[in-house]
Amino acid sequence: MSSKPNNTKSKGKTGNDREPGVGKAPVSVGVFVVTILLAYWAMMELNTRAGGFSRYVYGPYESYAVVESVQPGSGDDPIKRGADIYRNICSPCHQASGMGAPGQFPPLAGSDWVNVEGPNRMLRIVLNGLGGPIEVNGETWNAVMPGFGDVIVSDEDLAAVISYVRNSWTNEASICTPEEAAAVRAESGDRGRAWTSTELLALPLEVQ
Ligand code: HEC
Repeated sequence: MSSKPNNTKSKGKTGNDREPGVGKAPVSVGVFVVTILLAYWAMMELNTRAGGFSRYVYGPYESYAVVESVQPGSGDDPIKRGADIYRNICSPCHQASGMGAPGQFPPLAGSDWVNVEGPNRMLRIVLNGLGGPIEVNGETWNAVMPGFGDVIVSDEDLAAVISYVRNSWTNEASICTPEEAAAVRAESGDRGRAWTSTELLALPLEVQ
C-alpha cells in the first residue's frame, strides 16, 4: 500500500503503475484462428477415425462382428433367437414387458394360455391368429390378433419364439421343439382363418 495521498495520482504513470483492466483487451486474431483450426481438426479426426467408436456398435457389444452375430434369427440358443423374433414381431402389441396394453392386447406374462403343459394352442394362435372373446387371467378381451404363419416361415423360429414366451418374465413352461412346431403347422398351417378361444379350448394342451 502506498502512503501517498490520492491527489498525487496524476503525477505520471510508469509501466509499473498500470492496473489490470477487465474485458478491454482485444483477443489476438492469431489465438482466434488457432482455436478455430483446432476445433476443425478435432472434428475431422472424430469423423474419420471416430476414436475407435462406430455408430453401429454400442452397449455391451465390442465390435460390428458381435452385433451381426445377434441379428434376428441367428445364433444357436433358441431362447435368444426367440427373444429377437419376439422383439420384432410380438412386442409392438404385447410389449417388451409381456404385459400387453390395457383394453387392447392381453398380457403374455403370467397368462393362463401360455403357462400350460404343452404349446399346442399357442402354436395355433401364432400360426393362424385369434379373434373373438377370450378370457385371460379372469379378464375378457375381444380383439383380433393376425396369424404369423406366413411371416415366421421356419419351424425353428416358430418354436424359438414360443419357447421364449413360455420362459420369460414370470412364465415357466416347457420348451417348444421344432418338431412340435412342424406338426402343428402341417395340420393347421393352411387353415386360412383365425381361431376362437372356444375352438382352442376343445383342443388338447399338448401337441399330439
Ligand atoms: C397386432 C397385434 C398383435 C401381435 C403382433 C401379436 N399379438 Fe398376440 N394377441 C393380440 C390380441 C389382440 C390378442 C387377443 C385376441 C382376442 O381378443 O381374441 C392376442 C392374444 C394372444 C395370446 C392368447 C392370450 C394371452 O394373452 O395369452 C397369445 C398366447 C399370443 N397372443 C401370443 C402372441 C405371440 C407369441 C406373438 C408374436 C409371434 C403375438 N401374439 C403377436 C395381438 C397381437
